Amino acid sequence: MTGVLPSKGVCLAFPKIRAIPPTSVLLREGPTVKEITSAIVSGTARAEDFAALPLPESYRGVVVRRDDVGMFEGMDSVDKDPRKSLHVQDVPTPEPGPGEALVAVMASSVNYNTVWSSLFEPLPTFGFLERYGRLSELAKRHDLPYHVLGSDLAGVVLRTGPGVNAWQPGDEVVAHCLSVELESSDGHGDTMLDPEQRIWGFETNFGGLAEIALVKSNQLMPKPEHLSWEEAAAPGLVNSTAYRQLVSRNGAGMKQGDNVLIWGASGGLGSYATQLALAGGATPICVVSSPQKADICRSMGAEAIIDRSAEGYRFWKDERTQDPKEWKRFGKRIRELTGGEDVDIVFEHPGRETFGASVFVTRKGGTITTCASTSGFMHEYDNRYLWMSLKRIIGSHFANYREAWEANRLIAKGKIHPTLSKVYSLDDTGQAAYDVHRNLHQGKVGVLCLAPEEGLGVKNQEMRDKHLHAINRFRTEQG
Ligand SMILES: NC(=O)c1ccc[n+]([C@@H]2O[C@H](COP(=O)([O-])OP(=O)(O)OC[C@H]3O[C@@H](n4cnc5c(N)ncnc54)[C@H](OP(=O)(O)O)[C@@H]3O)[C@@H](O)[C@H]2O)c1
Repeated sequence: MTGVLPSKGVCLAFPKIRAIPPTSVLLREGPTVKEITSAIVSGTARAEDFAALPLPESYRGVVVRRDDVGMFEGMDSVDKDPRKSLHVQDVPTPEPGPGEALVAVMASSVNYNTVWSSLFEPLPTFGFLERYGRLSELAKRHDLPYHVLGSDLAGVVLRTGPGVNAWQPGDEVVAHCLSVELESSDGHGDTMLDPEQRIWGFETNFGGLAEIALVKSNQLMPKPEHLSWEEAAAPGLVNSTAYRQLVSRNGAGMKQGDNVLIWGASGGLGSYATQLALAGGATPICVVSSPQKADICRSMGAEAIIDRSAEGYRFWKDERTQDPKEWKRFGKRIRELTGGEDVDIVFEHPGRETFGASVFVTRKGGTITTCASTSGFMHEYDNRYLWMSLKRIIGSHFANYREAWEANRLIAKGKIHPTLSKVYSLDDTGQAAYDVHRNLHQGKVGVLCLAPEEGLGVKNQEMRDKHLHAINRFRTEQG
């Protein structure tokens, strides 16, 4: 299903954003949005019914606004409040261009990139939209004074643009968040290497935290049939990222028997890395910060767990000086849990705070694979432990088309499960992002967009029943 590109012969009047009517005549809760929802919930509407549904002039989406960019100036990150910068507002519906699809979004999820966008850190996302807008007339549509966020969705295709053959209205889908142009050969072996690689809903507009979203059709993948809309929307970004970072040959290339140190093992990325390690015959060493999170890791099947709060590791003596004694204490603890072995792979993302320790505890010849720097991106580590012990640091970012597809396939086959802990309404997305920013959440936090309630959209009850305990693991444990 990859590589659906506009064919050269197809010419196209450039699709515009519809003019938005004055607010007084907007059909925000009007018949069209309601009709779309009813058609989906009915479960009986066919492709032609969806194709015949009129599109609404506008839809509700979670946005940051260009006018708000300076609102947190001078504040520490921790004090910035996503509830103040995230707004739910009506935005005009874009028409799908060549190779694009418009999707009715039943549910989405909060990723940490939504938190970064809401804090305007490390940069306001409007710079990304401006740069994208300079690429082409089609891309110019993204450069707007508002940015509809969100990099996950589960929903139903409403319209496809010219050149799209693999998908049609009525298809039930999830979307991965890799947006690429593929006009350069650089990305033809590994789509993540495309020079115009972007994360949809973070570096492009019209994201999934909305009633309707615009995607490139090659982002679309079949929705796993045994999951509800909100469950299906939860894994996409983090599961694909963890898959490349840990399993793929582009990442650590994990194998059976590997010891894998997983930071934030019950968080967004970590909850999938833990499952991938267990499903792949590796041994996860899960680092978490509370007994509740430790219990969740145990319930996934992990046995080696470190509560970093209870054990009080302080890898930094002060802002500039690390404490190698603490690295050693941490390494000793890992050996206690593994029967004397060091870790083959470190699944890194906290960044500055942990990176020195991660490099230290990796075994000779082992791999530190990193996709983020939540606590600071200027990392420091003692290079003697890297070169003398022939360790490797691998940078990893999201996943290419194939890796995202394979990661979704694992969900669809019930080998990896969503880690949804809590679900919010679209109007409460600010609170959801606040919870993730404050690390108050477990696993993934979902958002209902068009879905009127939780639990809808399941097509394969038999398979669901088989995996019900695992699907609900994060909810049950939350109590
Ligand atoms: N490059 C990519 O493609 C990509 C994709 C997804 C995410 N990311 C990035 O990866 C990071 C994590 O994302 P996520 O979705 O997993 O977020 P998350 O749901 O907040 O989980 C991260 C977990 O890391 C742990 N943690 C946070 N700060 C830490 C610190 N200073 N030291 C040790 N552990 C710490 C916390 O777990 P405990 O408190 O239990 O230890 C937290 O739950 C974010 O910066 C995000 O932007 C990058």
